[in-house]
Amino acid sequence: MVPKKPAPLDFGHPPETVQFWKRLVREALSFSPSTPLYVFSSEPIAERISELDAALVKAGFPLKTKNPKFKTSFQHWLSCKTQPVAPLLRWWREQGRGIEVVSEFELRAALVEGFAPENILINGPAKHRWLPRFEVRDLSVNFDSPAELAALLPLAKKLNWRLGIRILTREEVDAENPQFSTQFGFAPAEAVAALTQLLAEPARMETVHFHLRSNVSSVAIFERAIAEVTAVCQAAKFHPLHLDIGGGVPVRHVLTRGSKVFDGEFGLGSFAEMLRQSVKLFPALREIWLENGRFVSSGGGALAIKILDVKERGGVRQLICDSGRTLNALHSLWEQHALIPLEERVGEEVLTVVHGPTCMAFDQIARMSLPRSLRAGDHLLWLDAGSYHIPWETRFSHGHAAVWWHDKKGMRLAREAQSFENFWGQWSGVK
Ligand SMILES: Cc1ncc(COP(=O)(O)O)c(C=O)c1O
Repeated sequence: MVPKKPAPLDFGHPPETVQFWKRLVREALSFSPSTPLYVFSSEPIAERISELDAALVKAGFPLKTKNPKFKTSFQHWLSCKTQPVAPLLRWWREQGRGIEVVSEFELRAALVEGFAPENILINGPAKHRWLPRFEVRDLSVNFDSPAELAALLPLAKKLNWRLGIRILTREEVDAENPQFSTQFGFAPAEAVAALTQLLAEPARMETVHFHLRSNVSSVAIFERAIAEVTAVCQAAKFHPLHLDIGGGVPVRHVLTRGSKVFDGEFGLGSFAEMLRQSVKLFPALREIWLENGRFVSSGGGALAIKILDVKERGGVRQLICDSGRTLNALHSLWEQHALIPLEERVGEEVLTVVHGPTCMAFDQIARMSLPRSLRAGDHLLWLDAGSYHIPWETRFSHGHAAVWWHDKKGMRLAREAQSFENFWGQWSGVK
């Protein structure tokens, strides 16, 4: 769908942000001209965390629990699934922060990267299939179902796990069939029964959790979910020490395919204020836990692609690039991101479709007005590629892109572009 009035190429990014990413991509290209590549940087992530912190502190939360005047603090967990990039995990761990994982591989990655077990929070469905293989003490584990609870409780008691349950709220529905709820968590009646059982056990039952969805459009939706969770806790006479509200704070500078912003009605100030008021509902609460993926990580990445060929047909310019939706930016199926020419190209703008190199008409990252002067050999930067791009990249006819990591120590190659040997070597088991 073509927006009637095309959005500016920077999608509201300040000029410094655009210059920042151009500088980093130029630096990566100066080390190796090979594209496509992702550049990820800790700096925008640190800025998002500071912004969240500032809003929460302004609403009355302390940064640390140490101050006895304030009983309830907050904690950010890194959503590993959002951006499972090793140097990001290292950078995050060095700040003493915790990580949220939802699979065996993610837990193993967190342990390999040196996270202390008390700084690892385990979420996700059907954990009883793999978690019993880990004899690790002091983990935090949020149960997702009665079957999981039954299977894992003996281990949880033996290994001193800090326990929680995920509660399914009415806000969580199947987006394609909203009359049905999602598959996650305990339904409210199950949650009351589980809490009653757990409170009678010699177990560390401490947390209630929900995760609504990505890009929650308003603070009121979180507020309604917290009210439901409060009712469950009251029915079970449970006073949680931690209220884990998952992720869902909406992404910035990204539009829907219909050109709406995701965060239009969402204010961080009112979000923080609502959380501050919610503390009153839980008399024993020590911490609110946040697991934001998109909001925290999206701005921390850019994808750089190169134009390989140019066609013109039916009044539309088509740029065939070395990457696009299919390989590295599945998000373009439902989102529009800033797409910035790296080289200075000015003059008349024409309707342009930017394609990847795969044999699928589906492979188009953007349809927008771009300068006619763009030519083969030029680069385009797809911004806000720091969340869910690595987990959703494909190897459709081509290998994985190179990944560069940037932080205060400078720029390093974090992952080489996939070689043919690696691409084909996966079949080495078949003789
Ligand atoms: C349990 C849980 N926490 C946090 C997140 C991160 O969500 P978001 O990227 O929307 O902030 C997810 C995403 O699926 C999740 O399932």
